[in-house]
Amino acid sequence: HIYADAKAASRAVAHEIADLIRLRQQEGLPCILGLATGSSPKTVYAELIRMHREEGLSFRNVVSFNLDEYYPMEPDSLQSYWRFMREQLFDHVDIPEGNYNVPDGTIRPEKVAEFAQRYDRQIAEAGGLDFQLLGIGGNGHIGFNEPGSLINSHTRLMMLDHSTRAAAAVDFGGLPRTPRKAITMGVASILAAKRVVLLAWGERKAPVIRGAVEGTVTETNPASYLQTHPNALFVIDEAAASEL
Ligand code: GLP
Repeated sequence: HIYADAKAASRAVAHEIADLIRLRQQEGLPCILGLATGSSPKTVYAELIRMHREEGLSFRNVVSFNLDEYYPMEPDSLQSYWRFMREQLFDHVDIPEGNYNVPDGTIRPEKVAEFAQRYDRQIAEAGGLDFQLLGIGGNGHIGFNEPGSLINSHTRLMMLDHSTRAAAAVDFGGLPRTPRKAITMGVASILAAKRVVLLAWGERKAPVIRGAVEGTVTETNPASYLQTHPNALFVIDEAAASEL
C-alpha cells in the first residue's frame, strides 16, 4: 500500500493494530505483538498513544516482543531499544509492566544462545505473534537480520554490517563506540507471525524496497523473504515507492 506520506500510512497501520487489540479483548485473549524500533515506527506509536488517550484504547491485554537489541547494551543507556520502547510507547499506555519483552543486552556471552532459544520459546508459548511490525535497513535487514541471514534462522547474536554500524554511529558518538553485535529475532521467528507489516519512508529506502518487492527472494536482501509470507504487507510512502 502506497500512501502520500508517512503520517497517513502510520495512521492506517495504527488502526489495524488497534482493531486487533480490541478483537482479542472481545475474545478475552491476549494480543501478541512483535514490535520494532528505528525512526519508521515512531509515528505508528504516536498514533497508538493518541488512541489510548483520546479513544480509550487499552493495552492491558497486549503482550509484546521486540525484534532486537544491541549487544552488549545496558537497558538504561541512551541508545538501548528497551529505553526507546519505553519512551516511544510503553510509558504512555496502560500495558502492564512484565507484559513487554526486549532482548536482554546484558546477558553474559556464554548465556546468549540459551537466552535466544528461550526468547523464541516464550513467543511460541504465548501463542505466536498475531502481528509483527518491521522497519527495513538500507541493506534490506529486518530486525538485525543482516544480508546473508537464512530464511530458517532463529533468534541469535548477529554481527552488524559496516553500513548498519555507520548508520547508527551518530547515535553512539562515532563508529568506534558503535556496537558490533546485536541480538535479533531470526527470519523464521518473524515469518512465523500471522501478519507482518513493513514500514518504509523516504527516497533513501526506494532502492531496497524495489529489491524486496520486485526482486527475487534472496538472502542478500532479507526483506525479500516477506514475499514467501501469506499475509505480509509493505506500507510505504510515495518517496519509498519511487523506484517501483
Ligand atoms: C535499525 C533497526 C531496524 C530498523 C532499521 C531502520 O537497524 N534494528 O529494526 O528497521 O534500523 O531504521 P529506520 O526506521 O530509522 O530507517
